[in-house]
Amino acid sequence: MNTTLCENIDWVGYVDWNVRDFHSYDTEHGATYNAYLIRDEKIALIDAVKAPYGENLLRNVSALCDPAKVDYVVCNHAEPDHSGAMPDVLRAMPNAALVCDKKCAEALAEHYDAAHWKRRIVSTGDAVSLGKRSLQFVETPMVHWPESMFTYVPEEKLLFSMDAFGQHLATSERFDDETALCTVMEEAKAYYANIIMPFGKSVRACLERIAGLEVEMIAPSHGVIWRSHPAKILAAYRNWMEHRPRPKVLVIYDSMWESTGAMAEALRDGAAVAGVQAKLISIRRSNLTRIATDVLDAAAIAFGSATLNHGMMPMAAATLSYLEGLRPRGKAALAFGSYGWGRGGAEGVDKQLRAIGWDILREPIVSKYRPTPAILDECRQAGRTLAEKARVLAAGRAAAAQVCLDP
Ligand code: FEO
Repeated sequence: MNTTLCENIDWVGYVDWNVRDFHSYDTEHGATYNAYLIRDEKIALIDAVKAPYGENLLRNVSALCDPAKVDYVVCNHAEPDHSGAMPDVLRAMPNAALVCDKKCAEALAEHYDAAHWKRRIVSTGDAVSLGKRSLQFVETPMVHWPESMFTYVPEEKLLFSMDAFGQHLATSERFDDETALCTVMEEAKAYYANIIMPFGKSVRACLERIAGLEVEMIAPSHGVIWRSHPAKILAAYRNWMEHRPRPKVLVIYDSMWESTGAMAEALRDGAAVAGVQAKLISIRRSNLTRIATDVLDAAAIAFGSATLNHGMMPMAAATLSYLEGLRPRGKAALAFGSYGWGRGGAEGVDKQLRAIGWDILREPIVSKYRPTPAILDECRQAGRTLAEKARVLAAGRAAAAQVCLDP
């Protein structure tokens, strides 16, 4: 495995092949916790790893230098997947000063027994010389915690970007040009949708802050390093940040006895006839992570639920609650669903779609028990309406960049 970014700058993190649940993020392809070692006249470690993998990090560092000779340990982000091993790391590096911004120092003190740690507090514009190279710091608050920070090495045009531009993707390769780019982009999209999406304004400020930097390589704290395609991930972030939709309709549903399922099929068929990408998603055959990823760049969404106990099906309610928290913007939407002796499923969806803030195109489409041919026709027509709206929305917001191109 090639772990060298450039001369004397190496990846020393951990590949977590088996993690499948990252605080409810479905990490079906595993994850990595990236840390980097810069050896110059001074030695700096950039970030740590999750608590159980501190020994792995220290083993990687020891293969390159004596940990006692490390001068600085930079903490770009205090979340425990990057700082969990910090107590062990600093114990093994007794001569190192922890370098972080003020909010990070506060967060670390609230997580760990950090009173005795040597600290160097930095803020945007500060720099630390390592000899031939230097570390420059750019605070990036709320991307996606208050203390988030980038570290830039101008001599190498290299940006250590903590979570931003990352992907939950375990691979034996460390670079974007060694891995299928379509997979990397899809996982970067999933990461943005599920972790970064609520913080679009902060992402905008962050991109403006780094616009003046010459960046040839982006080394995030998860996934592969952007060595050959940094412009592609930066362009994708601009599209996602602005919620630019593609001409794409999603029909997301949970059914009890397949009446809502039949309505969902008819809605999707109607949308597909109108010539846009039209996708059917059964909530119980997918997961929150993948649904949010699909929602990110969809222009229009039909969301359906059967009625259970005068309300939505539990997984439909959970999905909408999750989406409300992620705050995807600018979608056209409608609710649908079947009921029996009591109403509530489609009506509950409609209420929640309005709470998310989407443009609701019509009253809910409902069916008592099995949908009749007339109701299925109504669904197909509604699908066509969604597709037309999706085309208008996508055209009106400037065509989204094609983010899944062959390298
Ligand atoms: Fe990868 Fe926000 O921690």
